[in-house]
Amino acid sequence: MTDNTADITEKNTLENTEEEKTQESKPKKFQTLRGFQDLLPEFQDYYTMIKKSVRHRGRQSGFKRITTPIMEETGVFSRSLGESSDVVSKEMFTMESRSGKLMTLKPEATAGIMRAYIEHGMHTLPQPVQLYSIEPQFRYDRPQKGRFRQFHQANFEVLGIKDASVDAQLIHMSYKILEDLGIADRVDIQINTLGSAGNREEYMEALRDFFFDKSQHLSEESQARLKTNPLRILDSKDEDDQILVSMAPKLKDFLSEESKNYYETVKDYLHALNIPFYENEGLVRGLDYYCDTVFEIWDKSQGAQNAIGGGGRYDGLAELLGGQPTPGFGFAMGVERIIGHMKDAGIKPESKDKVHFFVAQLGEEGKKKALKITTNIRDLGYNAIGGMGKSSMKAQLKMADRSGARWAIILGEIEVRENKAILRDMHLGKQEIISLDNIEQTVIERLNN
Ligand code: HAM
Repeated sequence: MTDNTADITEKNTLENTEEEKTQESKPKKFQTLRGFQDLLPEFQDYYTMIKKSVRHRGRQSGFKRITTPIMEETGVFSRSLGESSDVVSKEMFTMESRSGKLMTLKPEATAGIMRAYIEHGMHTLPQPVQLYSIEPQFRYDRPQKGRFRQFHQANFEVLGIKDASVDAQLIHMSYKILEDLGIADRVDIQINTLGSAGNREEYMEALRDFFFDKSQHLSEESQARLKTNPLRILDSKDEDDQILVSMAPKLKDFLSEESKNYYETVKDYLHALNIPFYENEGLVRGLDYYCDTVFEIWDKSQGAQNAIGGGGRYDGLAELLGGQPTPGFGFAMGVERIIGHMKDAGIKPESKDKVHFFVAQLGEEGKKKALKITTNIRDLGYNAIGGMGKSSMKAQLKMADRSGARWAIILGEIEVRENKAILRDMHLGKQEIISLDNIEQTVIERLNN
């Protein structure tokens, strides 16, 4: 295990369990790790709705799906995101393989996708290469509302072309997805430009000079950032830092004409696409690979806290990973945070898990018939479940009610003997006797009427 990295092994679990067993004579009840959560059926309904919009918007714009491994060699992330970034310096789940290689659970998608682009020679494909993913990510951050150690990102990347229309289109797409999900009115889009890598270097030098004799007035965190990445001081939430930042040199004075023009064009296109946005000179992003356009999607009420998404241009990343120069632009949105907003906005996803029929039965013959009817209905493309245990009819009807099934098919001993069944409309509480012959067709007809 390395310094600054989280211990993901559960190395003492076995010993602890044995110990606890003898101490309490009761086996330990396990729980999810801090910051990790079970994705229960309710989450899945929201997740399905989000995935649908992500897939739909991706396909509409010619994106293809990619899944990179959940783990990469640590260098993929440390080189890409920057050693001084919070993610690399504090938040990676890193472990050593048996052969001594450092491996990290992916904290974000971009670096792995760029590694894959280079590894598979995707520069030989028609450019741009447009890829999207929707996957779990891992960051060892302090868990709190909207912040988890395992979370999910919907992520889009356009590789191999630098054009302001790409930046504008992706910002537009992120907004469209939030519109699909009914929460676009809850967010603000913040944008900025960081200029070229050269512009940024010059600006960082100017910041170092400016803060040189003022560093004692900076927060502890900003003092550390002054040494590693002074740009991140602009991000500080500390009030004293902010006062100093307001007097510090401005990034816009270090931008080349080319970068300025590029940014103006992006904004022009955003206006043309009717995307509302705010310009924010302090927006620098927490990962080092960005240049030129950056953007974040903020919660209207909370600002930078718990951002719903973010991204930007990263034209130097491919070279950092040993590839040839390849421009790129992308963004990611946090699924859990989107779900939080959907819930707050009262948006209920439609569930496909609806049960159409509940088949209740009594007696051996009834059970056999119920089994056949249930599976036949399923084969015909409808959802059917049944009380397969030995519960009483009353208990089974309660189960039918709880299952949300529209219809209950009741096979009591007498009915089965008479080649009949009771069909009960669970919504209206009405019932009728129907024949067991072709019962599947009869009940499906009722459902469709
Ligand atoms: P990021 O801003 O680090 O960017 O993360 C994107 C989004 O992931 C955040 O806005 C947030 O919604 C979600 N997120 C991040 N950390 C957590 C967490 N601990 N718990 C819950 N949600 C979280 C990136 O990751 C870049 N790779 C985006 C990008 C793609 N840039 C270019 N292409």
